[in-house]
Parts: sequence; C-alpha cells; structure tokens
Amino acid sequence: MSKISEKIRYVGVNDLKKSIFEGMWPLPFGVSYNSYLVISDKIALIDTAEADFAAQYMENIRQEIGDRKVDYLIVNHMEPDHSSLMQMIREAYPEVRIVGNAKTVPMIKGYYGITDNIHIVKDGDCISLGDVSLTFYMTPMVHWPETMMTYCHEEKTLFAGDAFGSFGAVSGGITDSDASLYGCTDAASDTFDAFRDEMCRYYSNIVGKYGQTVQAALKKLSGLEISRICSTHGPVWEKNIQEVVSCYDRLSRYEGEKGVCIVYASMYGNTAKAAKSLAAELEKRGVPHVLHNLCTENVSYAYRDAFKYDALVVGAPTYNNDIFPPAYNFMYGISARLMKNRRFAAFGSFTWAGASVKLMNEMASTLGFDLLSEGLSFPQAYTPEKCDMSALADKLA
Ligand code: FEO
Repeated sequence: MSKISEKIRYVGVNDLKKSIFEGMWPLPFGVSYNSYLVISDKIALIDTAEADFAAQYMENIRQEIGDRKVDYLIVNHMEPDHSSLMQMIREAYPEVRIVGNAKTVPMIKGYYGITDNIHIVKDGDCISLGDVSLTFYMTPMVHWPETMMTYCHEEKTLFAGDAFGSFGAVSGGITDSDASLYGCTDAASDTFDAFRDEMCRYYSNIVGKYGQTVQAALKKLSGLEISRICSTHGPVWEKNIQEVVSCYDRLSRYEGEKGVCIVYASMYGNTAKAAKSLAAELEKRGVPHVLHNLCTENVSYAYRDAFKYDALVVGAPTYNNDIFPPAYNFMYGISARLMKNRRFAAFGSFTWAGASVKLMNEMASTLGFDLLSEGLSFPQAYTPEKCDMSALADKLA
C-alpha cells in the first residue's frame, strides 16, 4: 500500500477512532491523514499526521527508509491534523530542516515552540533532492493563509495539502486504481464514485468559503503537467484526475447541477409535512431532489447537497419571532460560505406571527440568490390548502 512509485511512498494513517472531525463533521467511514516521503539522495517528508497516531506513523516512515534520515519536512499546511507530529520528527531526525513559507513560521512557533532550522520558501522556489526536485506554489486560503502546494516535476506529482481531499479512510491501497472507501460494501463502485460524496462533503464543510482562492489556485496550477495528486486526505488521484479537478472547479465556482436541495427543521411536524409535500410534487415532475431534516441529522450533509444542486429550498417555523435555530444555523453556514448562484425559496409554519420566511428571504437576497417566490408562510397546522407546493414545484421544474 505504501509504494506509490520508486521515489514516492505513502506513510499516512487511517483514523477509525474519531467520529466527529473538527468537533463538527461526522466521519461514518473514518478519515485518513496522508503523508508522503520523496526519496532520492536526500529525503523529504511532506506533512505529518495526527498526534494520536505517532507510533504507527514513525513505524511507517522507518519501514520505508530504515536508518536513513529525513532531510526536509515540507509543511504544506499547518492545521494540527497534519502538523502535530512535527516536534516528534525533529526529535527523531535532529538535523531535519523544516520547509515552509513566511506565514507558516509564526504558526510553527505558536503551536510547537519551534523557531530554528526553518527554511522559508517563496512562490516558485525549488529544492533539489538529487535526481528529483520539489517546487513550491503558494496557494493561500485553500483553506488557511499559509497553505501551499509542492510539485515534483520529475514525477509529475502535486502534493496538494487539503485540496482534492476527502473524508473517508482508505483501504486496500492508496491510489485510486487500488484503493476503496473504508466500510463501503458496494463492490461495483470505483474509487471516485465511492469517494465523490465524501469529497464534496469535505469541500463544502471545510473549504467551501474559499471558492475564489481555490479558483486562483486552480488557475496558478493549470500550466503544470500533473499525473498524480497526493492530497492530505483520501486517495491519491491518478486515474480520475480530470473528474476530481473538474469537481473542484465546479464546486469552487458555486455551480450546482440541476436539482433541488430541500432543507428543513420542524418543531411539531407541520413544516416537515410541507417539506415532504414539496418533495412529492418534485417527484411527480421528475425533478432530482434530496430532503434533509436538520433536527435529526448533522448539518454537514445539508451543506454538501446545497453545494451540489442549483436550487435550495429551506423550511423553518418561526421561533421567538426569528428563524427556528437549526435552520438559522444552516442559513448562517450558507452565508458564511459565501454561497452564490442558487434559485431559492423558503417556507415554514408559525402560530401567532410569521417571521422565519421573511428573514430567510432576506439572508438569501443578501447572497444574491434568485428568489422564486415570496415564500410560503402558513399558520398553525399544515394543510395542502394553506401551503400548496405545486406552484413552487412548477417553478423548480
Ligand atoms: Fe486536513 Fe485543513 O487540515
């Protein structure tokens, strides 16, 4: 599993213990923390892994290089899931030179108290390892300010940090020719099919706000000849590079495919009935749609499908003269991700005064969404007469 090529080895780990990533996002298939060795006369280690996996990680490195030493630790990204074994690497290889950009330096000091033996690189700088070299490209805000990518010209390999990464641990191999999504039982699905949803969920949950800077990075890297993408999470992409890059391009342009993401939260089931009524009307018209109940599932999945589809319909009752909090949280998250280019509608119940629909419309207008209706606000119990979804379904179709 560890040999990607003669020069490049995988030394990452799978995390099947953690159930929630960043304290927020569910991990039904686990997650991998990917790290790579580039081996020539000198050896570079690209990013590290999560602190809980120190022993296994060191064992992985030693299995590949034995008693040889790591000469360079390349820091593409400082988030602790990739940097927290930096100090351990320094202890194991005291002469290792840490390679990062200027924005990395204060983070290294702040997180790990390390201030010496750091080599600062700028955009386009190169380090030779012998018969292979590493060139550094600054890709700020994909998705932290210090993020950069490392390109090995001789191997046509891009070490991309979190970009093109995915939730889901990798089993059976590491490249998309031989890897599968941990726990995925669908033998018919190839690696890209199996990981697609988890990759889109990772993008929407974690990188989603930074569409503009992802687009800048894609443009900057577009001149490179890339036949392998080594991300910090998920499979190494070789076979499906076109699909993966075009998926990232579409997501970062906020371009949804045809379909409707219905997201709702309901206190006593009336807004839920309205949501299901809309789903039934869309079904009759053959419109692709998904339904997410924010009271029973993590908002992670609703974000994924809000990025996936070009129409977003949100249902929430009025609560304290405001938007019912689970739906407010979703709308806030959509706003924080600077979502664009969506057709939008809101609906929801109230008892004595309606406010949620108007407020959700205001949030959607601020994002420049195309409002398909004034919204469907109805008092007390849901009935089809009070909240007829057929006209909205026609517009969505
Ligand atoms: Fe996987 Fe942004 O860290």
